[in-house]
Amino acid sequence: MALVYVTRTVHFNAAHRLHNPEKSDDWNRSTYGRCNNPNGHGHNYVLEVTVAGEPDKDTGYVLDLSDLNRIVQDKIVDKCDHAHLNMDVDFMQGVLPSTEKFAIAIWRELEDALPTGTLHRVRLAETNNNSVEYFGE
Ligand code: NI
Repeated sequence: MALVYVTRTVHFNAAHRLHNPEKSDDWNRSTYGRCNNPNGHGHNYVLEVTVAGEPDKDTGYVLDLSDLNRIVQDKIVDKCDHAHLNMDVDFMQGVLPSTEKFAIAIWRELEDALPTGTLHRVRLAETNNNSVEYFGE
């Protein structure tokens, strides 16, 4: 048994606004600061998707990285790139688009979509300095 972790990295640009509708405007302003600005703001997101598995005996691959790339493009990048997460992205409706919650939502979109291997980690960077990692339940 030789478990290997394979990672694909993708980039996309998206807008969002941090606003919890169950809280007051004052709470939102003091909690989120400029991230609560009414018309939103943008980030250059970097998403790393890591799949764990054993290399196939014939191909030597855990999974074909071009397959993984196509899945991540179809399920995440095509929906999120140049979009507003709060308004435009189906799987983010009703989700507060913090990096943390966005990473969990991405995990849920991808976990059942892999042809081989199992989803191990989603790392999402919102800026060069801030990133989160999610490893599932
Ligand atoms: Ni932001």
